[in-house]
Amino acid sequence: MNQTIDQILAQHQHDATRLLGMLSDIQQTYRCIDDAAIEQVAQILNIPRTRVLAVVEFYNFLHRTPRGHYDILISDSITDHMLGKQAVMDYLCQRLGVKPGEVRADGVVSVDNTSCTGLCDQGPAGLINGRAMPHLTRERVDAIAELIERQVPLAAWPEEWFAIADNIHRPDLLLNEKLAAGSALRAALQRGGDATLQEIDASGLRGRGGAGFKTAMKWRFCREEPQAERYVVCNADEGEPGTFKDRVLLNRYADEVFEGMTVCGAIISAQRGFLYLRGEYAYLLPHLENVLATRRQAGLLGGNVLSTSFDFDIEIRLGAGAYICGEESALIESLEGKPGIPRNRPPYPVTHGYLGRPTVVNNVETFLAAAKIAYHGGAWFAAVGTSKSSGTKILSISGDCARPGIYEFPWGTSLRDILAACGASDVMGLQIGGPSGTFVSNHEFDRVIAFEDLATGGSFIVFDTRRDIFEIVHNFTHFFAHESCGFCTPCRVGTSLLKKQFDKIYEGHGSAGDVVELEGLGRLVKTTSHCGLGQTAANPILTTLERYPDLYDQKLKKISYEPGFDLDGSLAIARRLTQRDDAAAHLAQVED
Ligand SMILES: Cc1cc2nc3c(=O)[nH]c(=O)nc-3n(C[C@H](O)[C@H](O)[C@H](O)COP(=O)(O)O)c2cc1C
Ligand code: SF4
Repeated sequence: MNQTIDQILAQHQHDATRLLGMLSDIQQTYRCIDDAAIEQVAQILNIPRTRVLAVVEFYNFLHRTPRGHYDILISDSITDHMLGKQAVMDYLCQRLGVKPGEVRADGVVSVDNTSCTGLCDQGPAGLINGRAMPHLTRERVDAIAELIERQVPLAAWPEEWFAIADNIHRPDLLLNEKLAAGSALRAALQRGGDATLQEIDASGLRGRGGAGFKTAMKWRFCREEPQAERYVVCNADEGEPGTFKDRVLLNRYADEVFEGMTVCGAIISAQRGFLYLRGEYAYLLPHLENVLATRRQAGLLGGNVLSTSFDFDIEIRLGAGAYICGEESALIESLEGKPGIPRNRPPYPVTHGYLGRPTVVNNVETFLAAAKIAYHGGAWFAAVGTSKSSGTKILSISGDCARPGIYEFPWGTSLRDILAACGASDVMGLQIGGPSGTFVSNHEFDRVIAFEDLATGGSFIVFDTRRDIFEIVHNFTHFFAHESCGFCTPCRVGTSLLKKQFDKIYEGHGSAGDVVELEGLGRLVKTTSHCGLGQTAANPILTTLERYPDLYDQKLKKISYEPGFDLDGSLAIARRLTQRDDAAAHLAQVED
């Protein structure tokens, strides 16, 4: 029996819901979770070995064979590519004598790609043994390679290499002022649960994680459930490429976020809350634990909060590199120590959430807003924004602009005004809401951010006219194929087919029939997938195809089909034929 593993399990109180945390600790200690470790964990926790194995195999940061002593992951987000990621990656591999995805023969170092690390405003970025490193350059790579070859421990590396800037450029309603710890909670407790829920309702607050569900309604549904045990979960998984606002909110406004969670706990009568923090943000953990400890000392968490009969505490659980765990039901599965596979919905988490109990899941920004509303009242918030989108939205702006970072704008602000504020010029288009969102062309800059027009969870990537639309779609399409959890066939197979079919066109080997097929496949994946990931995976293809058919046309190889069926590869012609008699299938046959 391995004593270290025994100790790790004991530190997690042998609680099987903390399986992911235990396995992450084992991974960190031994650089892998081998068969013996899997066996031991299963035996001690008295759970099937296959359950442990399923978790190890699901999460990108867990491995069955050892990674290098220095395990480097470089962010593969489009924004990192725009900042020179590929050159940095190539040089790093050359300097270290290792290929992406491999461990060097001496076991000292391994290098790989990873999905967006949430440092889009300061890329190219990466992680080394889980620690975030922004602004990677050739010179930094030289220095890193030297330290690795001398096997200098990470703790002795220059601290400034790991410094992450907040880059808040435009604060507004939420970010302008910091609340004194406890002030929102005191106001809520004095007002009472019903009255505070009415304020949240009057504010019109809608979820900031993307879907925009009314927060008061979610809390009310949960509160009205007959079960006594209820939970509050803050979704800090923030895996959508181009989104990094929650990283900044947790670094700068953690007190307000925890306060919002506590206000929610008081309203729905929950005793426990969880902050589900993406593994890429593990560097925030000591700071967040400190804030929690200070709040406990101040009587804002724990037993008898603010000397009332209300007991509430918050635990932080770390993810391990799986974008799908941002989906609320997958997140709950992960919190329960399982692979993050989305559940069937309904039932929704408000009735059947963590351990089958009523659970509120909200985004970091939603809890921050809720705390401010509990303090200032609903009318204060509702006075800003539009009729269906009250308040402000915090955007993570990256890409081709002079000042990437965090911007808070009232809902209803036009894209033109946002672009002016961040110093963007000569813009070709924007990706709003990340890869799962919408591509907007430069003919649409009078459109506004609002649930009535362009709803967004906060990712705002700017592309100027130097950029190749196909490179962007290629990156996003590969992202979805990589992050599909594999549970349902339309998404598992569909995202992979979309990737292959798009690549064929991207590489100049596609015909008009291929584009028509791509479009049809995209619609099929969208309508038949089990969860939001599959349902939005074709968005980059569909939204650019709609806006730039001519660009797709230019990519096509020119083909002459059989006599009397002479096509010049035109997408418009192929589309017309498809409408007439399913010519896409015919075209595909002819090409084969
Ligand atoms: C694939 C996928 C990833 C998601 N990632 C996140 C995320 O990182 N953060 C988040 O708050 N919501 C994310 N969501 C939305 C959540 O499922 C959920 O709607 C949200 O956490 C609810 O909080 P809100 O009402 O405050 O927006 C994701 C949804 C999907 C389908
Ligand atoms: S749609 Fe994709 S991510 Fe969602 S359950 Fe199916 S395979 Fe998993």
